[in-house]
Amino acid sequence: MEKLQAALEQARKARSERAISSETEAVAPSIDEKAPDSLSERWQALSPFEVQDKILVKHRVVTQSARKEATPFDILRTKVVLQMRQKGWTRLAITSPMPSSGKTTMACNLALGLGRQRDLRSMLFDFDLRDPSVQDFFETRPAYGISEMLAGAVRFDEQAFRFGDNVAVSMAQHSEPDPTRILLAEETAERLDGIQAAYEPNVMIFDLPSVLVNDDTRAFLKNADCALIVVRADTTHYGQFETCQREVAEHTNVLGVVLNAYRHDKRAFQTA
Ligand SMILES: Nc1ncnc2c1ncn2[C@@H]1O[C@H](COP(=O)(O)OP(=O)(O)OP(=O)(O)O)[C@@H](O)[C@H]1O
Ligand SMILES: [Mg+2]
Repeated sequence: MEKLQAALEQARKARSERAISSETEAVAPSIDEKAPDSLSERWQALSPFEVQDKILVKHRVVTQSARKEATPFDILRTKVVLQMRQKGWTRLAITSPMPSSGKTTMACNLALGLGRQRDLRSMLFDFDLRDPSVQDFFETRPAYGISEMLAGAVRFDEQAFRFGDNVAVSMAQHSEPDPTRILLAEETAERLDGIQAAYEPNVMIFDLPSVLVNDDTRAFLKNADCALIVVRADTTHYGQFETCQREVAEHTNVLGVVLNAYRHDKRAFQTA
């Protein structure tokens, strides 16, 4: 635990030093050295993928088009975008106290809902490296996994897919045996800086594991500007939520809490 704290402190220091130096020199998009010059060409160069509506709906992803079921997510999307824009934040982590709270469902719905905002560029990263599932939600297998991309073995434009014109999705291929190492690595932070510089996303969503099961989320949160905590009304205990919120707040800004599966007024999702 002490070792992790020390490593986190060091990584946070390195990130803030990079932030200061980037005020005077732009971060070179070195990872995509072969990428085209213009921003729209870079986005167009990402491989497009399509998923049938019925597959998405089967996985409770409903925001790809405007419809009644998408409304709670659309409200959440608008709140998130407005708050992040106001604070000048780009990177949103999604986590929860315990597993199966609806994080990935939330992350995919937010990403596709953001995609309907034609003026925004958004990205979804599956950083639940131990137990990735975004590829199952989209029923799509990437040729390379997100870990290979983060390690620099492949470029972002070789690894990530594009949904529509303006949503990039970086999925995993398999479970990682030692994800904390990747999540803590300075190389990962630099990679994300490079992607951000090259693709200028308005919102980067990071689907993370639960806070109370291992150290993975704690290790990564220094890379996010803010976090949404998803709690499941029917299973999350208040004590678990309190502990999770305290832990998240030690590493990043808590943007809000999403109460999932709250049935009282027949809405599937409520924001708080
Ligand atoms: N509001 C909801 N009502 C009913 N089922 C839901 C709701 N939200 C999510 N689910 C279902 O609960 C299961 C877990 O959801 P999801 O994978 O999004 O959770 P998670 O927090 O990402 O889980 P993990 O911790 O394993 O990554 C899925 O089968 C999903 O379809
Ligand atoms: Mg998940």
